[in-house]
Amino acid sequence: MNCLVRSFFALLVLCKFSTSSAWSWNNLLMTSTRINLGMAESVAAGAELAMGECQYQFRWERWACPRSAFTKKKVFRSLIRESAALHSFLSAGITYTLTRNCSRGQLEGCGCANIHSQHPNESPSATWRWGGCSDNIKMGEQYSVRVLDSLESGQDAQALANLHNNFAGRLAVRHSMRQSCKCHGVSGSCAMQTCWIQLPPFRTVGQALKRQYDTSVRVGYSNGILQIDGGSSSSNGAKTSSGSSQILRVSPQTLVYLELSPDFCRANVTAGTSGTKGRTCSRDKGKGLSASQRRSCIHLCKNCGHKVKKRVVTVMTSCNCTFQWCCQVQCQTCNTTKSIYSCA
Ligand SMILES: *[C@@H]1O[C@H](CO)[C@@H](O)[C@H](O)[C@H]1NC(C)=O
Ligand SMILES: *[C@@H]1O[C@H](CO)[C@@H](O)[C@H](O)[C@H]1NC(C)=O
Ligand SMILES: *[C@@H]1O[C@H](CO)[C@@H](O)[C@H](O)[C@H]1NC(C)=O
Ligand SMILES: *[C@@H]1O[C@H](CO)[C@@H](O)[C@H](O)[C@H]1NC(C)=O
Repeated sequence: MNCLVRSFFALLVLCKFSTSSAWSWNNLLMTSTRINLGMAESVAAGAELAMGECQYQFRWERWACPRSAFTKKKVFRSLIRESAALHSFLSAGITYTLTRNCSRGQLEGCGCANIHSQHPNESPSATWRWGGCSDNIKMGEQYSVRVLDSLESGQDAQALANLHNNFAGRLAVRHSMRQSCKCHGVSGSCAMQTCWIQLPPFRTVGQALKRQYDTSVRVGYSNGILQIDGGSSSSNGAKTSSGSSQILRVSPQTLVYLELSPDFCRANVTAGTSGTKGRTCSRDKGKGLSASQRRSCIHLCKNCGHKVKKRVVTVMTSCNCTFQWCCQVQCQTCNTTKSIYSCA
């Protein structure tokens, strides 16, 4: 077995098994916690989920949440808001897969949630009752704490902030859960419903975490607690009283960071940035595009002092397709041109 990168979180190692040619995360090096193989696989799958989703959510940002940010031991010199995002995405991804795999019976000693005891106030009535299999967020959270939080030793500012951001990630998963119901009764009359609580697609959690990153708050450290820096926070999520610091009163889902981010426009090895030169931006028009996508060429290129380079490429598509009896679809190949923009 051949291992390559030990991750930033000192948790995962990227390994190549002798039987396969692909690199995979399927091996864990636990620093302080022992977990069984099933859990380890689930954690690795959760890390993959987090990496993919983070990349998607940050695709139009100057910092694009590259995979390397997860796999390097130390990406940034200090705990900046991007480190907060990394921790919350990883924590959420791991919580998510553990929760789902638990309910699916894929983890030893773990199964559907006992929803009656977790929601005692929502008492079933004549028209609905709890049933089916509810996702076991409680177990997902517990395992995730064991795996991630145990990596933070010490009581320094970084450890406290990491723990807070891990917590925020888990909370985002919990808050995203929704009740689903299924109707019963003669010919769809829905006289009786069976309801359960389930996880949404992970995209929903990713969107929530991205919003939390956008409104993250800078904190400082003194007397063993994290406090909101007097007035220097540009974000909301917390109330600062007339300039002076106050005890950390950020809501549990607010991401916190300690230092300001470097300039992500330019590459700087010391600062751990690769710059936006070469990044693709979008000039697509139309409804349904996010504001960040529509602004991407300005945000990534122009405001960073780069030019926008246009490249025209030919893409082959299937066109003029006809259906032939039976049962084949025949198409022609058409060449269409597409403009691709990037920072140069
Ligand atoms: C957990 O789920 C993921 C996909 O959601 C899967 O790839 C992984 O193998 C599962 N782990 C276990 C132990 O079943
Ligand atoms: C690179 O980053 C370091 C640390 O943030 C900073 O001190 C230095 O001035 C930067 N260099 C350039 C060329 O911007
Ligand atoms: C589609 O097929 C028709 C009939 O064969 C042809 O006249 C037309 O030019 C084709 N269109 C394209 C886009 O290839
Ligand atoms: C499309 O492009 C390819 C290669 O660029 C060329 O071989 C093919 O003939 C073109 N097809 C059409 C319909 O123009």
